[in-house]
Amino acid sequence: MNEKFIIQPANRLKRLPPYMFGELNRLKLEKRRQGIDIIDFGMGNPDQPTVHSAVRKLQEVIADSKTHRYSASKGIPHLLKAVSERYQRQYGVELNPNKEIIATIGSKEGISHLSLALLGPGESALIPSPAFPIHVWSVVLAGANVITIPMSSQMDHFLSDMSHIVENLWPKPKVMFLNFPHNPTTTVTTLDFFEEIVQYAKKKEIIVIHDFAYADITFDGYKAPSFLQAKGAKDVGVEFTSMSKSFNMAGWRCGFCVGNPEIINYLATIKGYYDYGIFTPIQVASIMALRGQAEEVERVAKVYQDRRDILIDSLSKIGWNTEKPKATMFAWIRIPEKYQNIGSFEFSKFLLEKAEVLVSPGIGFGETGEGYIRMSLVENSDRIKQAIRQIGRALEL
Ligand SMILES: Cc1ncc(COP(=O)(O)O)c(C=O)c1O
Repeated sequence: MNEKFIIQPANRLKRLPPYMFGELNRLKLEKRRQGIDIIDFGMGNPDQPTVHSAVRKLQEVIADSKTHRYSASKGIPHLLKAVSERYQRQYGVELNPNKEIIATIGSKEGISHLSLALLGPGESALIPSPAFPIHVWSVVLAGANVITIPMSSQMDHFLSDMSHIVENLWPKPKVMFLNFPHNPTTTVTTLDFFEEIVQYAKKKEIIVIHDFAYADITFDGYKAPSFLQAKGAKDVGVEFTSMSKSFNMAGWRCGFCVGNPEIINYLATIKGYYDYGIFTPIQVASIMALRGQAEEVERVAKVYQDRRDILIDSLSKIGWNTEKPKATMFAWIRIPEKYQNIGSFEFSKFLLEKAEVLVSPGIGFGETGEGYIRMSLVENSDRIKQAIRQIGRALEL
């Protein structure tokens, strides 16, 4: 063999931006190997157990060998029906389980393949920035271009900023991503905003993909609207939901895409080529979770709300003030003025080294995230207090 043979990835992999969280994760593992207890607010990986009804059902169903075969790529009929019932119950939205709902192997898989089904070279997608990285990467991997729309804290400007950007573009973008409650900024929105988006998307003929991963993780009485509640939403787009956060089922890999039947069909087509569906016992267990008591989901959200209060109150005690988020499992926090000049990546490294606390640097979610860190509410109350004491000692505020 030629010794100089260098194996190259496809060009599409070369288009990916550098993975900002990689180095911090490597440093975290190195410290843990040295026996240092890093308090980890990095990834939004739920730490609480899956709701009981799903675990019990999985244990029962897995014993039946009929469930061990390849499953239905689109999702088994009872699961799709359970999703339509939940949309009806929670949002008053009617969905046809055969045409307007598809199960995905977590919403991340669904988003990735939907980008591949809708976008290609020469086409582009509008993405609010900072963003959950797969929104950007799925578009890049599909060979299409990303047009970022800065997310300001005042959402009233968002639509006018976007229409100003779109006015000056040719060819016009094909797809728009939205994500409310938003990761990482925790921004929430109203049904009025979605109504305006639908009008705009219709006028400009732009497909809307709404990522609703934090549908149920809302606080202080705030209820997040579904995009599909907006009049005419089904004409222009789809919405992704996930079992991961509402039911603490992140490792199970089950999510859904619902809405416009043509778009669902394109996603079903590409998934039909790529996968054989989610393991049947997981789908059956998900039915139990979806049909379960509303209190189960409320309990999940309450854990995050309590942790949010402890985190934000403890930060304020060390002189680092920030607003309490109304939703999601994150806090999006502006770096203190004194440390702004080093940037979010170096600041996060500093917290890891000096406070033994891992946070996500805002820059990892796009350039507009610079100046911020994101903390995931996945450590218990005592460890949150401990972490903030350690941060207080490391920072001089
Ligand atoms: C906004 C957003 N969308 C999607 C996902 C992925 O969810 P899933 O586990 O359903 O793939 C996450 C996970 O953190 C997220 O924050």
